[in-house]
Amino acid sequence: MKENTFTMIDNQTGKRYEFDVIQSTRGPSAIDISSFYSQTGKFTYDNGFTSTASCKSEITFIDGLKGELRYRGIEIGELATKHSYLETCYLLLNERLPNKQELAEFDLEIRHRSLLHESLRHLFQAFPAGAHPMATLSSATAALSTFYYDHLNIADEDGYQEMARRIIAKMPTLAAFAYRHSIGAPFIHPDIERSFSENFLYMIRAYPGGTMRIELEGEKKIKDIEIEALDTIFTLHADHEQNASTTTVRSVASTGAHPYVAISSGISALWGRAHGGANESVIAQLEMIGSVENVDKYIAKAKDPNDPFRLMGFGHRVYKNFDPRAKILKGLQDQLKDELQLDSRLMEIAHKIEDIALHDEYFIKRNLYPNIDFYSGVIFTALGIPRSMFTPLFVIGRTTGWITQWIEFKKDRTMKIARPRQIYIGE
Ligand code: ACO
Repeated sequence: MKENTFTMIDNQTGKRYEFDVIQSTRGPSAIDISSFYSQTGKFTYDNGFTSTASCKSEITFIDGLKGELRYRGIEIGELATKHSYLETCYLLLNERLPNKQELAEFDLEIRHRSLLHESLRHLFQAFPAGAHPMATLSSATAALSTFYYDHLNIADEDGYQEMARRIIAKMPTLAAFAYRHSIGAPFIHPDIERSFSENFLYMIRAYPGGTMRIELEGEKKIKDIEIEALDTIFTLHADHEQNASTTTVRSVASTGAHPYVAISSGISALWGRAHGGANESVIAQLEMIGSVENVDKYIAKAKDPNDPFRLMGFGHRVYKNFDPRAKILKGLQDQLKDELQLDSRLMEIAHKIEDIALHDEYFIKRNLYPNIDFYSGVIFTALGIPRSMFTPLFVIGRTTGWITQWIEFKKDRTMKIARPRQIYIGE
């Protein structure tokens, strides 16, 4: 028996099969079962991929038991507190943090690339008024591939990086346009004098001509604390290894389709309530609960196996401990409480839910902790972000992760088309 192999025995025939073990640098190693079918004539079955690694990756590491998250080896808390979102983007794309000069150049390029082609603007008008911004955003991102169609010719680092910088820069503009169309407001173009995160708030809030809202006491500026909070939120969302939307992006990439179409598919996957759409559902659920007196009733519903009701913002496939991003957001909530007038009624309900759940047998037994979406909504609301824009905000942050994963996929010559098998149970 070779070292670094894994032996399986078929109890029906007594035959033994040996498989190589692939070592990771952190976290569990994996059994290479790519020859399983050819050796045994059988498939493996893993509903929801709970035990299946789909790729080798150097980008993000999660230890779900410890509640640890690292991008390129750097702990998320350090990135969120000491570095900007654009530094994090640079880190994900270039495998190291930028120096001052590199950051300045990267920032400048992102600002200049934030504008959309004028023809793309007309696309938004084709969608019905009131369309959810996630639907419009997914379509508009796919439509970007009609403007930058040379993807088949990109096979070098410069080409990949240009694709990446362009989509990172344009996503906030696409999201803001999707929102403004959904409420029938005129589009506000990005202002290259403003930073990445400030620009997004500006495009959401400004009046035509670039004027910000005027209030009785004077012109209301976008506050620094708001820009910093949003920037941190983007960093926390930047990547999360092989989640449902990233896996979708990689699957589409595996067919050789255009990267922006792959990202559009990722946006669609993110929209669901079990994934990024949970941030919108959390606030809707807190409002439905309405007051702390009703919390017990809803906790009982969440625990009832015959009731489909779930506590939104609770539970995670990988984290069986506190989601480290949720911890940082909880701290941010406390920090912003006074300056941004966070909704104290919703926070009170959220605190009671958290308190009960963290001490309740049902949640403890299943390792159900608050996830990133449990805390983000209250902060988004305080930043004046409308509810329909919560998931698009997640998209803006995650775009960097998706395109970095797309690049890694393209550069890995061993990757194959994603094509799972099935267990046929029909006639
Ligand atoms: N409320 C109540 N019970 C729950 C919850 C919840 N939020 N989440 C899981 N459970 C229970 C399940 O009913 C199940 O119980 P059982 O063993 O008695 O049948 C057990 O916990 C395991 O749940 P699964 O659905 O098997 O766990 P899975 O890893 O497949 O799902 C998921 C993870 C989708 C996140 C789930 O916890 C959930 O639906 N949470 C609510 C939605 C949410 O917050 N999504 C955001 C995730 S973070 C992100 O994507 C950015």
